[in-house]
Amino acid sequence: MKAAVYRQYGPPDVVRIEELARPEPKANEVLIKIKASTVSAGDWRARSLQMPAGFGLFARPVFGLFGPRKKVLGTELAGKIEAVGSAVRKFKVGDAVFAYPGFDMGCHAEYRTLPEDGRLMHMPAGVSFEEAASISFGGVTALKFLRDLAKLESGDDVLIIGASGAVGSAAVQLAKHFGARVTGVTSTPNLERVLALGADRVIDYTKTRFQEGGEKYGLIFDTVGSTSFSSCEGALKEDGRLILSAGSLPQILGSNWASRRSRKKVVAGNAPERVEHLHFLKELVEAGRYRPLIDRTYPLDQIVDAHAYVETGRKRGSVVITMA
Ligand SMILES: NC(=O)c1ccc[n+]([C@@H]2O[C@H](COP(=O)([O-])OP(=O)(O)OC[C@H]3O[C@@H](n4cnc5c(N)ncnc54)[C@H](OP(=O)(O)O)[C@@H]3O)[C@@H](O)[C@H]2O)c1
Repeated sequence: MKAAVYRQYGPPDVVRIEELARPEPKANEVLIKIKASTVSAGDWRARSLQMPAGFGLFARPVFGLFGPRKKVLGTELAGKIEAVGSAVRKFKVGDAVFAYPGFDMGCHAEYRTLPEDGRLMHMPAGVSFEEAASISFGGVTALKFLRDLAKLESGDDVLIIGASGAVGSAAVQLAKHFGARVTGVTSTPNLERVLALGADRVIDYTKTRFQEGGEKYGLIFDTVGSTSFSSCEGALKEDGRLILSAGSLPQILGSNWASRRSRKKVVAGNAPERVEHLHFLKELVEAGRYRPLIDRTYPLDQIVDAHAYVETGRKRGSVVITMA
C-alpha cells in the first residue's frame, strides 16, 4: 500500500511516499481502506518537533529519541471496512466509518487496522469522507476542554481565540450547541467564516484587543497560545476560567501561579480521548449542530504541500488528504 512515511524529523519534505506492506487485521480488528485523512497541527508538530516553548524537552521521548517511532503520521481518518477479524461483531465489510487513533497515528496511508473497540464509529449520515475525516482532531479537543475540563454551562459568555482553526471552529459550534453566547477572535479574512459557524459576535484581533471592549467572559478559550492569565484577568468574570490548550510551559505555569489567589481559574493539561467523544460528535453532526470546517484538500501524493500549508499556522479548519 502507499503511505506517507517520515524517517527523520524536519521540514515538510522529510515526508515521502513509500510502498509498505498492507496490515492484516487480528481477530478483534478491522482493516479500513482509508478514503480521507487530515494533516493536523499535531502532525506538523510531530514531524518538525516544533513545540510550544518549554515542551521541546518532552518531544523526543514522546515521538522517538533518535527518530520518529511512528513513521506514518495522521491522527484521524474516514474510509470503508475492507476486512474484519474473526471475533469482530460491530462492523462488517463495506461499512463506512470514521476513526480517531490520535497520537497512535498511522492514517496517512491507504489502509489501517484498528480494534473494533477502539476510537472507531460508523460515519454520520449525510457527510462526505472528507468531512467525516475532519470531525475528530478539532472536535474532540474542543469537547474535552469545553465540556469535560472547563464544565461549560448553558448561558455562559465564551470568548474563543483562534476561532477559525481546527480546534477553534469546532469550539464555536460546540459552545453554541451547549447554549453559550459566543464571541470569536480571528483576523479580517475569517470574520464572515466565523459568524457563519454560529458565533454571535466576532473580534478582529488585527484591529482590536478583546481586552479593550469592556466585555466580561465566563470562559476564555485560547486555542492558539496567544495570551496568559495576567492579560485576560480583567476580561474574565469573577469565577471565570481561562482555557490554555496550546500554551507554552511558561504561559501555563505563570498563569497558574498568577491565578492562585483568585476565584478565576486556569484550565490546562489533558484528558483521555474516548470513543464516547466520537459518539457525541457523530450525533451532533447528524443533528446539524456540527459541521467540520474544511480549508483545502490534497491528494496523498501532494502531502508535502499540505504539510507546508499547515505549518503556516493560517489554515482554516482542516486540511484534508484524499487517497486514490
Ligand atoms: N492540548 C491539546 O490537547 C491540543 C489538541 C489539539 C491541538 N492543540 C494545539 O492547539 C493549537 C491549535 O490547533 P489547531 O488545530 O486549531 O491549529 P490550526 O488549525 O493550525 O490554527 C490555525 C488558525 O489559528 C488562527 N490564529 C493564529 N494566530 C492567531 C491569533 N493570534 N489570534 C487568533 N487566531 C489566530 C489562524 O487564523 P488567522 O489566520 O485569522 O490568524 C488560523 O485559522 C496548535 O498549537 C495545536 O498544537 C493542542
